[in-house]
Amino acid sequence: MAEQKTILKALAGETQDIPPIWMMRQAGRYLPEYRATRAQAGDFLSLCYNPELAAEVTLQPIRRYGFDAAILFADILLIPQALGADLWFVTGEGPRLSTITSMDEVNALKPVDEIDATLSPIYETVKILSGELPKETTLIGFAGAPWTVATYMVAGRGTPDQGPAHKLKDENPEAFDALMAKITAATIEYLSKQIEAGAEVVKLFDSWAGSLKGVDFQRYALQPAREIITALKARYPHVPVIAFPREAGAGYIGFAKATGADCLAIDNSISAEWAAENLQVDGCVQGNLASKHMVTGGEKLTSETKRICAALKNGPHIFNLGHGITPDADPDNVQRMIDAVRGN
Ligand code: CP3
Repeated sequence: MAEQKTILKALAGETQDIPPIWMMRQAGRYLPEYRATRAQAGDFLSLCYNPELAAEVTLQPIRRYGFDAAILFADILLIPQALGADLWFVTGEGPRLSTITSMDEVNALKPVDEIDATLSPIYETVKILSGELPKETTLIGFAGAPWTVATYMVAGRGTPDQGPAHKLKDENPEAFDALMAKITAATIEYLSKQIEAGAEVVKLFDSWAGSLKGVDFQRYALQPAREIITALKARYPHVPVIAFPREAGAGYIGFAKATGADCLAIDNSISAEWAAENLQVDGCVQGNLASKHMVTGGEKLTSETKRICAALKNGPHIFNLGHGITPDADPDNVQRMIDAVRGN
């Protein structure tokens, strides 16, 4: 039998001498070859919906660095668009969407069984990738978690405090719950189709989980993750799931067990040492070098990388950043990080 891929070993709970490594946003603007392909596609969304070019940018960091995993090139906001929201990106500012602030607007969204009409190019990208990736590289699919996607759908843009979504959930819980249920069902469908097209692992990005406190965290971060993971595991028991309830703090404790996730991706608000003690007992931990080191580099980048590897060396670990790499990062620093992880 062929040797199992390093990422899948980590997700199955295996401790490895050298942790496998990939990087959030590894296909992105810090790479000149990404900028060239993006220019060829036109804009960011055209790139997402062009399977050949989306597969090409997914492969670029694999060719350049030999990461252990490739992550599908797409965006968490394609689901709102597939449900009927308008979506566009303003250069230098970020995403814009038509807003959802009432039950009538939730009811006007498309039925979940219509999302694949919009999202089929994404499944085609996954198919191309599963044919083209090196045999040792794991293909990761993804979606945004319902709370994070809802924060963009309600506000129509990114917000520093997710205020509009908090307001809707507090003032019109029926409409907010209906929106969450809709996104949850769409996410199960979207991830199922990614898996059927060849995704070997899926990751749920809950980038704004940190703004949910107490019982709200249970209700809008933990429960939807559990619902999605339970549905996926019933259909595809062999497909591991990585959960990323970013900045959940103490909410990370027990999150993997409660949701059925095989791995917790950790951000920079907690230390790798704390994660080793409190999270790795339940399974794999992914993270958590601060993205700023990809900009600043130097000896500090090497020492921080080694500190994280040492802290998590006694359990299953996938090396990654605490959040996405930024456009001002230096591609040479990525190689320096990889060399520090692999001991070169
Ligand atoms: O990790 C990966 O490389 C996989 C692809 C991926 C992208 N976005 C590509 C992308 C993933 C997993 C995402 C997730 C995503 N998208 C999140 C959750 C994760 C996180 O980073 O917290 C969120 C909140 C979004 C929504 C979104 N898309 C934002 C806020 C932006 C930034 C806008 C900007 O101009 O900086 C995007 C655009 C985006 N998504 C880019 C990439 C590579 C930059 C696009 C470009 O201009 O080329």
